[in-house]
Amino acid sequence: MAIKARFAPYAECGPATLFRGDCLDLIASVPDGSVNLTVTSPPYNIGKEYEQSLPIEVYVRWCAEWLEEVHRVTADDGALWLNVGYCSMPDRGRAVPLAYLLWDKSPFHLIQEVVWHYGAGVSTRRAFSPRNEKFLWFVKSPDRYKFYLDRVRDPNVKYPNQRKNGRLRCNPLGKNPGDVWYIPKVTSGAGRASSERTPHPAQFPRAIVERIILACSDPGDTVLDPFIGSGTTAEAALLTDRNCTGFELRSDYLGIAAKRLRAAIRRKSAIDDQLYFADRK
Ligand SMILES: C[S@@+](CC[C@H](N)C(=O)[O-])C[C@H]1O[C@@H](n2cnc3c(N)ncnc32)[C@H](O)[C@@H]1O
Repeated sequence: MAIKARFAPYAECGPATLFRGDCLDLIASVPDGSVNLTVTSPPYNIGKEYEQSLPIEVYVRWCAEWLEEVHRVTADDGALWLNVGYCSMPDRGRAVPLAYLLWDKSPFHLIQEVVWHYGAGVSTRRAFSPRNEKFLWFVKSPDRYKFYLDRVRDPNVKYPNQRKNGRLRCNPLGKNPGDVWYIPKVTSGAGRASSERTPHPAQFPRAIVERIILACSDPGDTVLDPFIGSGTTAEAALLTDRNCTGFELRSDYLGIAAKRLRAAIRRKSAIDDQLYFADRK
């Protein structure tokens, strides 16, 4: 990995390597076409503890810069799954979809938008409570990209035995999960915290990243997350036998991620976990 020649990793946890620093500085050392899949959730410009609120034009320009770099490092049959929410724009909008602002700010080809729908969320009085974020699925080459639907079919089929002309109407592996995914948010708070919750303030659920990785990459591939936070993408990559490179500005988050990955490695080595993942590849 060329990047290791320039930057010492913060941590190496099995197939996952974490680097501390600014994603633009770090990604510059990643070779062209060396990443199969990027799954990431950048800062949304909403004043979280890990970001500085920027004028929207500055924020969009910054996103265009790192998106361009992600495109450069992506293999010809590779993909980017970009998780985005909403931000406010003074005098323009209360909750402007970041997908509208960013979808065309890179040379990637957009395959589709997937809606991530969840139950828990902020309650609001003067608008409907937000219950979704988006994933934008981009590829480098629209005629040549990895997509393995059978690995992620939804077994929850209403009429599994329905036949037409004697043939099953439904794929016995299940149905296409569609473009609206109901996956619970990572919640916090006494009595309601998700089991995967870490102290990171904006963790996305591992189940989403696992579905994306299984559908859009092969075992042994390299997955990148330039905003790795608590290490969710790395944990999902590790548990599905992919390599992962993660970047993060803050060492406290990297500490959380490294601890989480070491625990995942211990769990994965248990025999029942081995069997569980073997039948999903
Ligand atoms: C939305 S969070 C990602 C959370 C992650 N998906 C998870 O499940 O934990 C964005 C992360 O990007 C990091 N970050 C912000 N600016 C960065 C930069 N320029 N380079 C690298 N990381 C950055 C933040 O510290 C934060 O942890």
